[in-house]
Amino acid sequence: MSSEHFSWNIVYDFLTGPALWFTFIFFIGGLLLRIAFLFHLSRRKDRVIYNHVNLGWGLRSIFYWLIPWASASMRQQPVFSVVAFIFHLTLLAVPLFLAAHNTLWDEAFGISFWSLPDTLADWMTLIFIVSAGFLFVRRLRRPEVRILTTSWDYALLVMTALPFLTGFLAYHQWGPYELLLILHIVFGEILLILIPITKLGHMILFFFTRAFIGFEMGGRRGAKSW
Ligand code: HEM
Ligand code: HEM
Repeated sequence: MSSEHFSWNIVYDFLTGPALWFTFIFFIGGLLLRIAFLFHLSRRKDRVIYNHVNLGWGLRSIFYWLIPWASASMRQQPVFSVVAFIFHLTLLAVPLFLAAHNTLWDEAFGISFWSLPDTLADWMTLIFIVSAGFLFVRRLRRPEVRILTTSWDYALLVMTALPFLTGFLAYHQWGPYELLLILHIVFGEILLILIPITKLGHMILFFFTRAFIGFEMGGRRGAKSW
């Protein structure tokens, strides 16, 4: 084995060993802490919301905001809504159900999910990249969105897309394979670490916000929030 390959192996072992453990612990622990902190804050500052908790209104609000065009505000932006839906669907499905990832889940935890056929996962990756590009350009083009967008919003969108871009290139072996795989893992881990400490935390917080607005509007005023 050449010395060059040897050094990639050390990097790979580090990234898929201690660094990966750190990443998962930070990701799950960080999200739990964030929920705990916000829960505590709401008990202290906004206790009154707990007086009209209503599961039915909460769940319906979540449901109507998950399905494309189910909410009035999504129907006002039909193209954006469907692209954002496809963006999230592929974003969650590919990393969870990719055969190559499943092998790693299996090695690490002895669990493996059902796998997507490779060709399908590859197409979904491409579709994800196109939808991320659409969302990026939309932020630049639409004045009402652009004015609300900070450089950090663009950066997070790019950071979300980088594991897909590098995973895709590595899978097709377009470019220096070892380097691309290392970059892929680094970007994947950075993304997971960013989730609890940025607005990407909405992957969990979304459900609380939607449920709360749902029963706030529904339980208290009888009005739909979708
Ligand atoms: C964090 C640790 C991660 C590890 C160790 C890892 C590992 C891998 C490996 C070994 C491959 C296969 C490359 C090949 O076929 O040669 C791959 C592909 C891929 N991964 Fe990851 N990955 C990680 C995180 C992520 C994340 C967070 C995402 C997305 C959010 C992601 C999305 C993808 C995609 C889209 C592909 C290529 C699919 C295709 O075009 O066929 N990965 N990954
Ligand atoms: C089940 C989990 C999730 C839900 C319910 C959810 C929901 C949402 C919603 C409602 C929006 C705002 C409008 C829209 O684009 O539809 C949004 C935007 C966004 N989400 Fe998620 N999300 C989830 C997971 C994630 C994850 C895991 C990531 C990244 C790792 C992510 C990245 C983004 C980004 C980058 C945007 C902004 C898109 C733009 O710039 O227009 N989401 N998400």
